[in-house]
Amino acid sequence: MSTLVILISGRGSNMLALLEAKLPVDNIFVISNNPNAEGLKTAAKMGIQTICIDHRIFPNRSAYDTALADEMDRLKPDLIALAGFMRILTDDFVLRYQYRLMNIHPSLLPAFPGLYTHRRVLKEGVKIHGCTVHFVTPTVDHGPIVIQAAVPVFAHDTDKALAERVLQQEHQIYPQAVRWFLQGRLNFSDNMVTISDATTHNSVIYSPELQK
Ligand code: GRF
Repeated sequence: MSTLVILISGRGSNMLALLEAKLPVDNIFVISNNPNAEGLKTAAKMGIQTICIDHRIFPNRSAYDTALADEMDRLKPDLIALAGFMRILTDDFVLRYQYRLMNIHPSLLPAFPGLYTHRRVLKEGVKIHGCTVHFVTPTVDHGPIVIQAAVPVFAHDTDKALAERVLQQEHQIYPQAVRWFLQGRLNFSDNMVTISDATTHNSVIYSPELQK
């Protein structure tokens, strides 16, 4: 029996993309730190078991992550997928689930780690932007990269337009990365991830244009 746990804090559109992807997994659970997360309602409507561990009732980050780890011990996930989980996890938690903890970030890492990536991209005049699925390490937004998708930045782009363009790609690459993981096709060597039996162009960089 294989298990996927998805952690969310808000809207949950990446979670929905994962839920709709018909992934090769037996059990899926959605956990949120935010009782009002819209994604919790979406998941529940789809018959997915949801759990809320509200961060506000814990005295500090470490106490919260201990509770989260206790829940993981109960659920025994093969993979934990962070999908807009707006909390920085403690090193203890991250190291405990090393190589079983994935994240999606709205930039072409290692460029633009952190928040407000679209706004910062526009400010810097960057011409190519995108998103990255990576394994989580103690350094925030800086782990082994599984797959990336690139999108153009247009001259008169707004934050919102750019975010939407990137989000569409997020919904493609996250299910792809999780599927590869569940199929046992991801191999690690140092900081590099390679995918078994993948063609050259989809093994490392997913370019939307190449897929057409
Ligand atoms: C996404 O842009 C994701 O890359 C980032 O947070 C956002 C979450 O959006 N980590 P959603 O909740 O999946 O719609």
